[in-house]
Amino acid sequence: MSSLTNKQILLGITGGIAAYKSAELVRRLKERGAQVRVVMTQSAQEFITPLTLQALSGNPVHTDLLDTQAEAAMGHIELARWADLILVAPASANFIARLSEGRGEDLLSTLCLATTAPVAVAPAMNQGMWQNPATQDNMSRLLSRGVRVMGPAQGSQACGETGPGRMLEPDQLADASAELFTTGSLSGKRVVITAGPTREAIDPVRYLSNHSSGKMGYALAAAAAEAGAEVVLISGPTQLTAPERVNLVNVVSAQEMYDASLTHAQGCDLFIGAAAVADYRPETVSNQKLKKGADDQMTLTLIKNPDIVAAVAQLTPKPYTLGFAAESENLLEHARAKLERKQLEAVVANDITAEGIGFNSDNNAVILLDRTSRIELDQRSKAQLARDLIALIAQRMP
Ligand code: C5P
Repeated sequence: MSSLTNKQILLGITGGIAAYKSAELVRRLKERGAQVRVVMTQSAQEFITPLTLQALSGNPVHTDLLDTQAEAAMGHIELARWADLILVAPASANFIARLSEGRGEDLLSTLCLATTAPVAVAPAMNQGMWQNPATQDNMSRLLSRGVRVMGPAQGSQACGETGPGRMLEPDQLADASAELFTTGSLSGKRVVITAGPTREAIDPVRYLSNHSSGKMGYALAAAAAEAGAEVVLISGPTQLTAPERVNLVNVVSAQEMYDASLTHAQGCDLFIGAAAVADYRPETVSNQKLKKGADDQMTLTLIKNPDIVAAVAQLTPKPYTLGFAAESENLLEHARAKLERKQLEAVVANDITAEGIGFNSDNNAVILLDRTSRIELDQRSKAQLARDLIALIAQRMP
């Protein structure tokens, strides 16, 4: 069974008799590890109740664009950002027409317009409606815009006719959804990623550290594995579990991260320094717990830690080396300086003062900068951002 671990799937249900299968689909998606939120159109609610979908998904069902209560809990733009995939199943002929026209008159069509995540439709309708040139034109338009199409299948229909137009079975839709996340753009490549904070010991019970959650590095590791790479994730202490098919190497201090990175980066194709490495560490680490003295002040002498990403950039053969620049001012200037000083191939720059993104957040907005281009990726989930970054980096690697 193909996996959807930690994928956030927004399931759109439109009005059609196949909507009864959407209840089963929620279960199949969750069995594969996905989190599911359901959005229903008005006509979908004629076929199946929101209560059923709420119970199965474990989340409130969203039905209205202009519902102030729902907007206060999770607004439509937040919902669009939350999704790693919008899957519309069943997608009626009417919904497909609205999507192809780019309409935003109800919640589901608005979400499809607003999201940066992939959108997939599973058409389900009478065979005559499916084969009608109007529907076929709409489908061609959707395909040309990158909407993924799952099915339809051939066979007997609820209306008593036989032909193309049956929705794919829930198991097939769950498998096809998992397939969408496997790109192959890094297949055969070895990727090493650092993530999380480091801890610099002061004495046996105290340390210096920072607020890095590790989420961005872990999301990049998951995206690289999904793209077919062999991934080593060198992580400082975090609350996260390693993504599937990723080799996790746990470290604590910057020096340990440096040693592990230089060992694993030898001969790798891509190195991503996403860790928030402590720039300095205490010069001496006391063997015993330091005691409070009579003085009101205490002085710690710090010495510089080695720069991991800069050292990896000096290896031969040199991997494609990507660093992060988390800045609170003069973002591009500092990021460009880092690119040159550390001799990196590219830098991911983010403004840590912007609201709702960065260190501990699930969202981020960044600029990918290399010597010939600058690409702005506006706010989206870290999972989606990681997939987009990996796709862009894969295109740039030799
Ligand atoms: O110099 P600064 O810490 O701002 O640079 C950030 C980038 O450098 C990040 O990619 C971070 O992972 C990396 N870095 C490193 N080793 C250090 C300090 C930063 O790899 N000692």
